[in-house]
Amino acid sequence: MRRDDLRFLRSAKGRQLLDEAAGLPDDLLLRQTTLRKSYSADAVRAATVLLELRARARPKFTKADCMFFDRQGLEQASGDVIAEHRAQRYRPYDRVADLCCGIGGDSVALAGVANTVSVDISASRAAITRVNALVLDRFVAVVCADTIKWVPEADAAFLDPDRRATGRRVFHLSDYVPRIDAEPLANIENLGIKVAPGIDHSEIPEGYEAEFISVAGECREAVLWRGALRSDADIRATVLPSGDTITRTKVEAAPVTKVGTYIYEPDRALIRAHLIDQIAHTLQAGKLSDQVAYLTSDRHHPTPFARAFKVRDVVPFSLKRLQTYVAEHRIGTLDIKKRRFPMEPDEIRKKLELKGSERTTCILTRTAEGPLAILCDPAR
Ligand SMILES: C[S@@+](CC[C@H](N)C(=O)[O-])C[C@H]1O[C@@H](n2cnc3c(N)ncnc32)[C@H](O)[C@@H]1O
Repeated sequence: MRRDDLRFLRSAKGRQLLDEAAGLPDDLLLRQTTLRKSYSADAVRAATVLLELRARARPKFTKADCMFFDRQGLEQASGDVIAEHRAQRYRPYDRVADLCCGIGGDSVALAGVANTVSVDISASRAAITRVNALVLDRFVAVVCADTIKWVPEADAAFLDPDRRATGRRVFHLSDYVPRIDAEPLANIENLGIKVAPGIDHSEIPEGYEAEFISVAGECREAVLWRGALRSDADIRATVLPSGDTITRTKVEAAPVTKVGTYIYEPDRALIRAHLIDQIAHTLQAGKLSDQVAYLTSDRHHPTPFARAFKVRDVVPFSLKRLQTYVAEHRIGTLDIKKRRFPMEPDEIRKKLELKGSERTTCILTRTAEGPLAILCDPAR
């Protein structure tokens, strides 16, 4: 979004256009042809794009419908739930810097706990952050600057580097823009750095805490904490929205065992954080295999860190056997989960020709005994 578009969309005429566009059916061509009778092509394009982005932003931001976005800025933005969670670590500080603030997803959350100065190299993103803070009733001082040349004075900072600066997603810390080891950034004592959830553990720099965060079971990001922002832990997994968190301690590797009465499917944050042995220890569970993150035990310990399923039956996998099973048990709906299994759920479902009124879950995985179909139901 250009700054001119932003200025226009915030004006009385721009707001009127947005209201009119939102009142029309959600059909781009219809909206454009209707609105072009009263507004310029540029104005209509800016309004229809913003409405499309607001609709897309709803899963990330509860107040998406009053916020401003550009396409890439929205894709890279931190949603409310994670940003609010991270911001809590900044509570002890008076002045906080949000470096590489994008459209302000983090700035708005940080401004709820501390005086916040935000910086972005892009003038339009800086302008969007300023406006988003305003419409969300938070005060943020925003500066358009290159964090390689200047960072504001602050007691602690948050850095969310660009992982798609060249248009393609990058995977190594050394390819992030700006580089996290560049001069002024390297000197910040208390710093949190947002990184990809798939970061290779060998890339986690010495002396940092790495926190892997999931929202509704999906691991969305990792944060590297240093200085007084880090805790005593070196690895942590946090599940949101509950906020339950588990850290690495020394535990024995869980034994590989046969399928028991319950199967546990660990949350993705724990998998990314390599905390499977940790949760297995807490649940007194074994692993189905060393390569697969499914745990099993004969007792049900409800936990926020894993979904539990009560096993009905275990069938050595073959399509024929599974076909016979679903037919005999009149299963019409099969929720398929798979790990280390070559076939896709849709492909299997199609071949099973499900008919019937029953519903169950089928976990497909590979163990030392070969490929298994574990028929089970969510444990209560
Ligand atoms: C991943 S986005 C930040 C998203 C932000 N945390 C949010 O929630 O909206 C990265 C941002 O870094 C900015 N950026 C890249 N290099 C920069 C630099 N050297 N100085 C300041 N900002 C930079 C980009 O313009 C982009 O908006």
